[in-house]
Amino acid sequence: MGGSRHAPCTDRLAEGIIRGSMDLYGRDFICTQDWTVDELLYTLELAARMKRERFSSRWTSILEHKTFIMFFYNPSVRTRISFEAAATELGGHAQFMTPSAGRFKTEQQAGETIEDAATVMARYAAGLGIRILEDKVPYYGAGHQVLREYARWADVPVLNMADDRFHPCQALADAMGWAEWFGDGPGRPNYGVLRGRRLLLSWGSGSLARSWCSVQAALLIASRLAMSITMAHPQGYDLDPEVVGWTKRNCKENHADFDIVHDPDSGYDGAHVVYSRNWMTPEAYQDGELQKQTEIERAMAHAGWTTTAERMARTDHAIFSHPMPVDRGNEVTDEVASGPRSAIYDIAENRLHVQKAVMALTMGNW
Ligand code: CP
Repeated sequence: MGGSRHAPCTDRLAEGIIRGSMDLYGRDFICTQDWTVDELLYTLELAARMKRERFSSRWTSILEHKTFIMFFYNPSVRTRISFEAAATELGGHAQFMTPSAGRFKTEQQAGETIEDAATVMARYAAGLGIRILEDKVPYYGAGHQVLREYARWADVPVLNMADDRFHPCQALADAMGWAEWFGDGPGRPNYGVLRGRRLLLSWGSGSLARSWCSVQAALLIASRLAMSITMAHPQGYDLDPEVVGWTKRNCKENHADFDIVHDPDSGYDGAHVVYSRNWMTPEAYQDGELQKQTEIERAMAHAGWTTTAERMARTDHAIFSHPMPVDRGNEVTDEVASGPRSAIYDIAENRLHVQKAVMALTMGNW
């Protein structure tokens, strides 16, 4: 591990701000499956505390004098702004970086290797976040491999800001939002009440050909928290079989149900959380490229996969969840997305709080 760390701040421990002795300093956060449920809940507990006491001086120097590099291959609204705000609120600085700012080796061009780039970035920064997915990768899984390769060489924590397989910070924010809505409100989540609640994760109509990262991250966190899951998608829209296998195993270990349906209507009965999202098919990458136009044409054959007020009325008073950006009118109607049971803005806000907690625990001065 490069960089320096202050000794754990015993007064913070004594105040109960960080309970127990869990040490996540120096850890990468690339997939929630890499962390234990206790580690995830510990982080979420800190996030809730940070939400309740947003600008407390307890947090405002945790990253003092430290830089977090945000390396974005793809565009972002929430992730960039929330990470940058998180670094600011922790007393540090987030530096924005794109591949076009350097000369990085790819299959098409000569340039510096990940080994060199990661090693050098780690000499400057306390942590490194990377986003790489969709049209910036030649095949499914290539973005995730880039993250793992950076983590192999960087001597500081690597945080996943969304790759083509996983979006773990989104998953923490989702879970926190669900646990607030079914718990005691903003900043007062209750993760125990999620046990046995039913998540409907549905493919959504639309032509955005989105990566699988957010929905796969949602499957993993929901199943780790003992939620029962119904996944609904048209035939031909299967997700990563390995991730679905982990989800089934998580559900089984937690005595929760998992099933898959192939019609846009049947998963709503009894659901507590409805999550709809467009995603691409397993055939989306051909000849080393995302075939976006083909994906759009494929998706157009599946109209009607829209979360509507009529469908929501059949749930068990479900909340509506979406990682955003929302494709209104296709994935979900305006009435639901802006309705009284929509959790989308709370979840988006929670990106800030969970990322503050992850950064504080993995790279902070305590
Ligand atoms: N949910 C999410 O990651 O949003 P952005 O793509 O805007 O960062």
